[in-house]
Amino acid sequence: MHFQWYPGHMTKAKRMMQENIKLIDLIIELVDARIPLSSRNPDIDELGKNKARLILLNKADLAEEKWNTAWIEYFQKKGFSAVKVNSKKGGGMKSIQEVIQEACREKTERDRKRGILNRPVRAMVVGIPNVGKSTFINALAGKACAKTGNKPGVTKGKQWIRLNKNVELLDTPGILWPRFEDQTVGLRLAFIGSIKDEILQSEELSAELMQFLVKSYPGILAEKYGIKESEDGFEDLRGVAESRHCLLKGNELDLEKASKLLLDDFRNGRLGRITLEYPEEFA
Ligand code: G4P
Repeated sequence: MHFQWYPGHMTKAKRMMQENIKLIDLIIELVDARIPLSSRNPDIDELGKNKARLILLNKADLAEEKWNTAWIEYFQKKGFSAVKVNSKKGGGMKSIQEVIQEACREKTERDRKRGILNRPVRAMVVGIPNVGKSTFINALAGKACAKTGNKPGVTKGKQWIRLNKNVELLDTPGILWPRFEDQTVGLRLAFIGSIKDEILQSEELSAELMQFLVKSYPGILAEKYGIKESEDGFEDLRGVAESRHCLLKGNELDLEKASKLLLDDFRNGRLGRITLEYPEEFA
């Protein structure tokens, strides 16, 4: 399967990011809890060197809890601050402000030693498209505004959201691109819906997803669709089409429709909490 991304936007996005990174102390990087590494940008470590770093496992509600814990440990071992969140429902949001302070502790200490007191930490949210950046900013800023009673302020042409007296957040997130050249990474990004479905063959995609599910989460498809699970993804897809009455004229199976249904069920968590990649793969 071959993937295309939007290379035109990439250069522009990277330039914007380099400009904005100069203004900040802390990078809050959102990754998708279902694919914490495939949803990372390959250049972020280089772009963000010398900055404090916080990794948020967003959409933690869609991934398996034991793997969320394992991934947090994985990132912490690599020296990042890391926590899981559900930006949509606000889960994990309460403690975020403390986590931000903690992630910047070294920098605050350094400032203090140099006699710089009370300079708020400036942070920026970054991540690949659709990972939940806007949702997260809204959830966090909503809480902060309610808590401190402050309105977003304007500083030197950039919009900063004052979270509290210690932290300011750039209101526009940095958009990064994933490592789309790698086919496994591309496939996982496509499963979660980060690559536009129009440029992909959805039947092939859902057949691949079903193969993964049969292997890693046996019984899930059987229970949800009443099909007999096999190792042939297309066979399973035909099963879904039959059980959900996805039919074309002349009673032929509508595999396209069945694929969309399956992908939609998966992406919205209706197949349960599913993690697509595991830390040991990358040990
Ligand atoms: P972006 O700025 O990084 O591009 O992402 P955005 O916030 O627009 O979020 C993309 C989608 O992910 C949205 O769904 C959003 O609701 C959903 N989302 C964000 N955070 C979470 C989370 O922690 N858990 C879950 N389950 N979903 C999350 P959408 O389909 O575009 O809209 P809608 O379903 O909210 O209407």
